[in-house]
This record gives sequence, C-alpha cells and structure tokens, in this order.
Amino acid sequence: MALDIHFTSAPLGHEIAGVDLRKLDDDTFAQIEKTFDTYGSIVIRGQSLTPQQQVDFSRRFGPLDRFVLERFNMKELPEVFVLSNIIENGQPIGMSDAGRYWHSDMWVSDTPPRGSMLYALEVPHRGEEPVGDTCLASTAHAYDTLSQEMKDRIENLSAVFSSKLYAQFVGHDTVKDIHTKEIMEARKDIQDRQITHRLVRRHPRTGRKCLYVVEGVISHIVGMEPGESRALLDELLAHIVRPEAVYRHRWRVGDVLMWDNYSAVHRATGDFEWPQRRLMHRTTLSAPTLAQAA
Ligand SMILES: [Fe+2]
Repeated sequence: MALDIHFTSAPLGHEIAGVDLRKLDDDTFAQIEKTFDTYGSIVIRGQSLTPQQQVDFSRRFGPLDRFVLERFNMKELPEVFVLSNIIENGQPIGMSDAGRYWHSDMWVSDTPPRGSMLYALEVPHRGEEPVGDTCLASTAHAYDTLSQEMKDRIENLSAVFSSKLYAQFVGHDTVKDIHTKEIMEARKDIQDRQITHRLVRRHPRTGRKCLYVVEGVISHIVGMEPGESRALLDELLAHIVRPEAVYRHRWRVGDVLMWDNYSAVHRATGDFEWPQRRLMHRTTLSAPTLAQAA
C-alpha cells in the first residue's frame, strides 16, 4: 500500500499519515525509509511509543549511537537520550537545551551520525499555543537550487570547522546551550578540534550533493581571504535557511520527527522556560556505512 504523505510547502518535513510505528510490515518500513532518505526530514504524528518500541523502530534503520552525556541516557535503555527541562528532586531528568543555531549534529566528527529521531511526550505551551518549535532546512535542496555559477565556484572548496569557535559562539545571547561545557568536558578528544570538511558533500546513501555549512563555527574557507570567505559562508547559509525553504515543526504530544544529518540542518527555537514542561526521547542513528548505502 502506498504511503499517505501530506507535503508541507517546504522541501522537507512532510508528514506520513496513517501508520502505527509499533506494527509496520517490511514493505511499509521500506517506504518510510525511502521517504526519509529522499526528503531529509519526516514527521509521523499520533504515535504511542514506549522507549523500547522507539528503539525497535529506530533499529530498523540500522545501529544506534548513544549520546555522549551518559547521565541523560535512560539507565535501562541507554540508546534513548532524554531531552527535557523537567527538574525532579532538584535534579534535571534530561538535557534541558538543544542547539539554537543552524547545525547538523556532530559536525566535529569525521563520521557524523546518519540522523536522529525525536518523540514528544510533553510539549510546553504558552496559553493554548505550543512553544519550543524545531526548525529544519534541506541542504540537498539548497545545493540543487544554487546557480550553476555558484555550484562551480564551491565544488572543490573546503572549510575549517572549529570547536573552539563553537564554544565562543554558544556564549552568544541567541545561543544558550548550558550543557555545552559539560559535553566538551566529556569529549576532551574534540575539545580543541579543528576539522576540515568539503562545502559540498555527497550524501552517503543517496549520492545527492548537499551543502555543508554550520552557523557560527566555521573559521574560514581554505585558501580564501577572510572577507571573501565570510561573505560566501553567509550567502550560503542564508540560501539554505531562506524562509520559504524552512520547515518549522510545531510539536504535539505523540509526534515523531526525524532528520537526516547530511541532507538537513536543524535549529531549536528554545522559546520556553520551566515550569513549562518539555519531555522528548531521542534516538540517534549511527553513521551510515557502505554496507548500508542504498
Ligand atoms: Fe542538534
């Protein structure tokens, strides 16, 4: 049976309706995975998942990663990372904040995860309105819609991503990631890391070309003078996240939102505060390998 897909006006964030993730036959799962690979972000609403059921569904995509801060992974099921601002007995039950800058996860790594899945258990509200939206933009669509001249210009360029710059950047007013220091502590190996990535990367599964630009963490484009480098990076980021290309997910309890870490960037709005409660369970799909490649 063909999937019932409700398309958004953006290139991604399309909703797959009429499925129960607890009982999917192989054919339906294959169509969901294809839709995920094709668009880079999908939404499946109205789910009712135990942590184990979320892990079981996530594992159908392949192996899973554990989040670096072990204390926010569920003890009995450490593949589930708790994203929450809830305080119980004076202790946070999860990581309270998510990246409020346009990024893909683990850009500091040579082998970033394939993607992530968020499942909403509690959604903060201001009055009747849900808050704490998540924004997504497609880096594959962004590449496809560049002028040929720009594609030629950036084809062989590389950029230097710096974790030091990130640490400075998250101190900025608009980005308050209170656990950044802790993450950096836990990952001493990446603390002072500079890593060079191609500005155009091929999606490991689909082969599509995707722009690789993360807000605020790129020090420069290799071999380019600083002014030109900054102007080009700003232009590319503005193109990726131009308003008509952004999908803004407004959360409801029971939503599953997935993003592909190569063909999409994401950003948390973070516009809520305790005692507005937010609780999500996240699973992370391990880096795609050649064996998984489509
Ligand atoms: Fe993220």
